[in-house]
Amino acid sequence: MKTNIVLIGFMGTGKTAVGKRLASILKKNFYDTDQEVEEVTGMTISELFNRCGEIRFRSEENLAINRLAKNENSVIATGGGIILDENNIAALAKTGIMICLTAKPEIIYERVKRRNNRPLLKKGDLYERILELMEEREDLYKCADFYIDTSDLDFQDVIDQILQFLENYQQQDKVDMKRA
Ligand code: S3P
Repeated sequence: MKTNIVLIGFMGTGKTAVGKRLASILKKNFYDTDQEVEEVTGMTISELFNRCGEIRFRSEENLAINRLAKNENSVIATGGGIILDENNIAALAKTGIMICLTAKPEIIYERVKRRNNRPLLKKGDLYERILELMEEREDLYKCADFYIDTSDLDFQDVIDQILQFLENYQQQDKVDMKRA
């Protein structure tokens, strides 16, 4: 049985905040792939991108994911680009239930514009860049067990929907295990 919960989704969809809350409600450990990378490298994500480039960041991200996916009973919030490497998805999906948070581009824009600390959103016009990256990644995010469009939901609604989904998922899991 999978005991991890993995949050994937585009930048600004609320993975970290939702993940922390979920972990506290479900009494699971909380991990964030960006935070892990920052701890291991001793650099912020922006510093890592600036000094060593995206390729190094992706490699550190992949190492962090392989480590974290081995844990049990954890909520793992991931960086928006983990879906770029299918090995990341495979490792996380092996031990975790995958939940994808989504939001409309205009909502993402409003959420990220106040604090633009994301290296990939620093090139050119912010809104255009969001559209471009979303389009590039659209199909890659289609690897989740459950999707929530957070655009018009408040924080508690998102949490409630996830808890409801997990309850149904676990019920189904029990039925499947009895049948097997
Ligand atoms: C990235 C998303 C960021 C961070 C890095 C790259 C991406 O994480 O990992 O800036 O490629 O989408 P958040 O999704 O938590 O902002």
